[in-house]
Parts: sequence; structure tokens; C-alpha cells
Amino acid sequence: MEKKNIDWQNLGFGYVKTDYRYVSDFKDGAWDEGRLTEDATIAISECAGVFQYAQTCFEGLKAYTTEDGKIVTFRPDLNAQRMADSARRLEMPVFPEDRFVEAVAEVVKANAAYVPPYGSGATLYLRPFMIGSNPVIGVKPATEYQFRIFATPVGPYFKGGVKPLTLKVADFDRAAPNGTGNVKAGLNYAMSLHAIVTAHDEGYDENMYLDAKTHTKVEETGGANFIFVTKDKKVVTPKSNSILPSITRRSLMVVAKEYLGLEAEEREITLEEVKDFAECGLCGTAAVISPVGKIVDHGKEICFPSGMSEMGEITKKLYDTLTGIQMGRIEAPKGWIKEIL
Ligand code: PLP
Ligand code: COI
Repeated sequence: MEKKNIDWQNLGFGYVKTDYRYVSDFKDGAWDEGRLTEDATIAISECAGVFQYAQTCFEGLKAYTTEDGKIVTFRPDLNAQRMADSARRLEMPVFPEDRFVEAVAEVVKANAAYVPPYGSGATLYLRPFMIGSNPVIGVKPATEYQFRIFATPVGPYFKGGVKPLTLKVADFDRAAPNGTGNVKAGLNYAMSLHAIVTAHDEGYDENMYLDAKTHTKVEETGGANFIFVTKDKKVVTPKSNSILPSITRRSLMVVAKEYLGLEAEEREITLEEVKDFAECGLCGTAAVISPVGKIVDHGKEICFPSGMSEMGEITKKLYDTLTGIQMGRIEAPKGWIKEIL
């Protein structure tokens, strides 16, 4: 198969239209059999649930070319599970988890020419999503839905690759204590847009959101979970019911313990103790692990000893091991890698 003529090394995190996407419609209480299509547009009612009351949820995962030339995905079953959780919370029908994993494979296979080559630094990002598609004007769930998966080749999420980021402690909240922060609802991202534009205007790369109730505990950023490393090399990550259960973070906790022999703990983390950590990073499918050099809390700077020029020692080990597993250089735990081609 001949690859597309794309400058893989210089891809940013953007949308590139690829050849095929997967579509399945839900009507009269059932999903249809689903199909690949070349049509990248959706034509639905102006009154569709997605437009009026933001009834939409999504996922994000990647396909990688491994060192020995295979195309694989990383733990797609967990994306299927999380999408099912999101759907239930938003009163949407669950797209069957086994069909989700199969549809991901179909989309990757159909767009194999867009899967960036090994060593290019780019990957094929997959975006499964679901929308309420029939007209609703009273506030209630739609009765018809569309599930789609499209693919787009991407480079690093943060410009500058692995240059440590500067974050702002946000005044805005991302998720309420009993809200939707723990699912991947489009509405969580809509309400983060003003905060991210404000942070960017002020020269920051991202926001650090705190818990909405007390503004004392670390939650996450707009698109990634936090990992911290203590001065005695323990990996710690915030525990909260209002953050997204990141698949990358859950995987990194296993990598820290099983591969690197480090202690790793998920617990509440106060903003107050952040200054005592040695390293900080953002983790997620898009972010992979992006190091954080500085966090600014209303003029007060927290500068990590790992510095502003490169990743900290443990963060780098976590990064190398995780990406090594994803690219087939390091043996993966059973069930983590799904071979597609
Ligand atoms: N937190 C938020 C708000 C996200 O949007 C994402 C991205 O999916 C993550 C965390 C990281 O999750 P994952 O590692 O499953 O991609
Ligand atoms: C992902 O990492 O897949 C996300 O959905 C986060 C988003 C910032 C792109």
C-alpha cells in the first residue's frame, strides 16, 4: 500500500480529511448494521438534539505504525467502555463495545495510507463520536442518533513538541462535583473554550482546573490528566470523580509500577503541595506525556526543578516506555495492543 504524500514530520494536531469514515444510525430502538462512507458531511435537521441541547459525546484514540511495520491501536476496548459510560450519562443509546472496536479497525484499515510511518513522530488520530440526530425542542433526549468514526493524521498536540509547558491555575471551573467531568461529553469542552482562549491570550499553554467546590484540589487540564513525580521518585496522580478517567494515565500507573519499579499512587492532590513535586506532566492520547515546567497561581510561580528546557528524568522514562509499548519496541501487557494490519 502506497502512503499518501504528506509531510508527516511537520503535521500539527489538526484535521486532514481522509478517505473513509464509519457511520451507523440508531432508529426505532436499534443500531443499523453500519458502513464505511466517503462522505465527510452530515445533513440533519436544524432542530437535532446535538444542535439544541448539545447531546454529543466522543472518544479519541490513535493508530500507530510499529517498528516492524504493523499497524496497531492501543487499548481500544477502554475507549469503547468509556464511550458507553458517556452515552449512559447523556441518555444516549450505547453503541455496542465489540462493534466499536471492530469499527475502529475498519476505519484504520480503510485509511491505512494515512497512517504515518514509524519514526515520523505522527500518528493516525481516531475520533469516534455520537450525536442526537432527530428534532427535539422540549428538553429531552433525542430518539435517533448517529455514531461516526473519522480518522486524521496528527503530530504533537502542543506546538513545540516536548518543550515544557506553562500553565495557569484557572479561575473558571471545568466540571461540577456531580456533573459530567468524568465522561467525554462535548459540553465539557464547550465550557472550557473561554478559559483556554483567555489562558492563551495571557501567554499560557493550558489551564490547571481545580475542584469546583473548594478550589483547593488539582483536577486536570482541558484535554489531559496530570501526573506528578515526588522528590523521592514516586508517581502520583489526582483522584477525583469529576475528571476524565484517562486511559493514558491508567496505563502509565501500570508502566510506573510494573516496568519501572516505581511506587505509583492515585490520590487527592492539593494545589498547596504542588510546589513540593519534582516533575509534572500532562497525559492523554493527544498530549501523550507533555512536560510542564511552570504553573502560575495568580502571579505566584511554581517552577519545577526539572526545568523549562526538557522532560524530567522520570517523566522521560514513563514517556519512553509508554511510546515504546505503543510502537512495538517494548513488549506490551496482555491485551493492550490490537493489531489491525
Ligand atoms: N482529560 C480530558 C479532559 C481529555 O479530554 C482527555 C483526552 O481524551 C484526557 C484527560 C486523556 O484521556 P486519554 O488518556 O484516555 O486520552
Ligand atoms: C484526546 O486526547 O484524545 C482528547 O480527546 C483530548 C483533546 C484535547 C484532543
